[in-house]
Amino acid sequence: MKIDILTLFPEMFAPLKESIIKRAVDSGKVEINIINIRDFANPPHYKCDDEPFGGGAGMIMMCEPLFKAIESVNQANSSIFYMSPRGKVFNQNCAVELSKLEHIILICGHYEGIDQRVLDYFKISELSIGDYVLTGGELPAMVVADAVIRLLPNVITAESTIEESFSNNLLEYNQYTRPAVFREMSVPEVLLNGNHKKIKEFREQQSIEITKRNRPDLLRKNSKNKN
Ligand SMILES: C[S@@+](CC[C@H](N)C(=O)[O-])C[C@H]1O[C@@H](n2cnc3c(N)ncnc32)[C@H](O)[C@@H]1O
Repeated sequence: MKIDILTLFPEMFAPLKESIIKRAVDSGKVEINIINIRDFANPPHYKCDDEPFGGGAGMIMMCEPLFKAIESVNQANSSIFYMSPRGKVFNQNCAVELSKLEHIILICGHYEGIDQRVLDYFKISELSIGDYVLTGGELPAMVVADAVIRLLPNVITAESTIEESFSNNLLEYNQYTRPAVFREMSVPEVLLNGNHKKIKEFREQQSIEITKRNRPDLLRKNSKNKN
């Protein structure tokens, strides 16, 4: 998979050079390119934003640098997404769908956003990471890239992605590691006796309880699917 991220702030992307994502890049499972939109603006000032037509607060990212930046990477197999609070809310199902694509282009807005003609011309989908407004699309692009890359084959073990939060519309059970007793707090006995059937039942029960408590909406989705 190839991910091209278009931004005015390329230095914000250091987190994609660490840990599991770095290993995925180093082993060739994903190629990530951070593209500076300003490189496509005109000298001498390399201006990328201007005031909104019709008035209003803030600045809007201009068409020309964005068009040129997109055209420099866009191909027949590309899917383009604009990070935007107006977009469809990104979730684990979207991450699974995006992980099947060959080439993703993520556009990071800043200030008040981007000129609508960019979205219309390239038929770009808008993706939100939640119902709040951030200063820029850089953190959302990293969130989307991370969630997608960890689902690519052999980036993490397949088992980890099967039994985790949101698979089957449930949240994950509680996890423990050594020591079995820490400051007089013991790990649940059932996890120590090696009875895999009992462990599975215990974890399923916990998953249901945690989901009921924190995300009852997910359980409702499950019962809808059954009907
Ligand atoms: C201050 S926001 C612009 C908000 C825009 N004026 C609005 O009201 O919808 C600047 C940029 O941050 C990004 N952004 C902010 N919140 C986001 C979210 N929840 N999900 C995805 N991107 C977001 C977008 O790229 C956006 O263009």
